[in-house]
Amino acid sequence: MEELKRSAAEKAVELIENGMVVGLGTGSTVSYAIKLIGKTRKVTGVPTSVETEKLAKKCGIRLGSIEDFDVIDIDIDGADEIDGSLNLSKGLGGALYREKVVALMSKTFVVVADESKLVEKLCEKAPVSVELLPFGYRRTMRELESLGCRCVLREKRSDNGNMLVSCYFEPLQSIEDLAKEIKSITGVVEHGLFIGMASKCFIGGRRGVITLER
Ligand code: 5RP
Repeated sequence: MEELKRSAAEKAVELIENGMVVGLGTGSTVSYAIKLIGKTRKVTGVPTSVETEKLAKKCGIRLGSIEDFDVIDIDIDGADEIDGSLNLSKGLGGALYREKVVALMSKTFVVVADESKLVEKLCEKAPVSVELLPFGYRRTMRELESLGCRCVLREKRSDNGNMLVSCYFEPLQSIEDLAKEIKSITGVVEHGLFIGMASKCFIGGRRGVITLER
């Protein structure tokens, strides 16, 4: 499995040129890309979590603050689920808000994953991760449950100091509608559904790396 993650990450790093501003995602797959960037490229990284910031510093990558840039050249990140239209579910690592902001600011958003993350429909294997403001979070969880999921509070807070929940939905609904409904609930900061955002996915499989493109 680690080899599959590494092979996908290596493909993504091929797209990075010296001098670029690069969004650095969070998770075990993208960590292979971060280590390789540190060894082979001179770029400015914009980390999506405290964990990634620490790793990038250790790898010798120069870091910039998100407020320093209007646009990021390329963002590399992992995913918990990927469907055939390159829609993603993200956030099991709890970094979904910063990951979404960095992805939205990027000209190219590249996803790296192993083949176990491919699904026919989102919500098949992973819950939808949602970040909630602490004030009234129990009410927000009830609102989420009224959309038809089981909502479980996670122990760990986000790097923004907010609550994180896992929402277990059935994979049958329209994912675009679900994303809008979750976002419209007061108290929701952001959700981990990344719809129509990824430009390219590199999927590490036993027979090599598959590229999915929009
Ligand atoms: C963190 C994320 C990660 O990118 C996602 O959980 C995938 O991680 P991994 O590569 O370790 O499976 O969204 O918030």
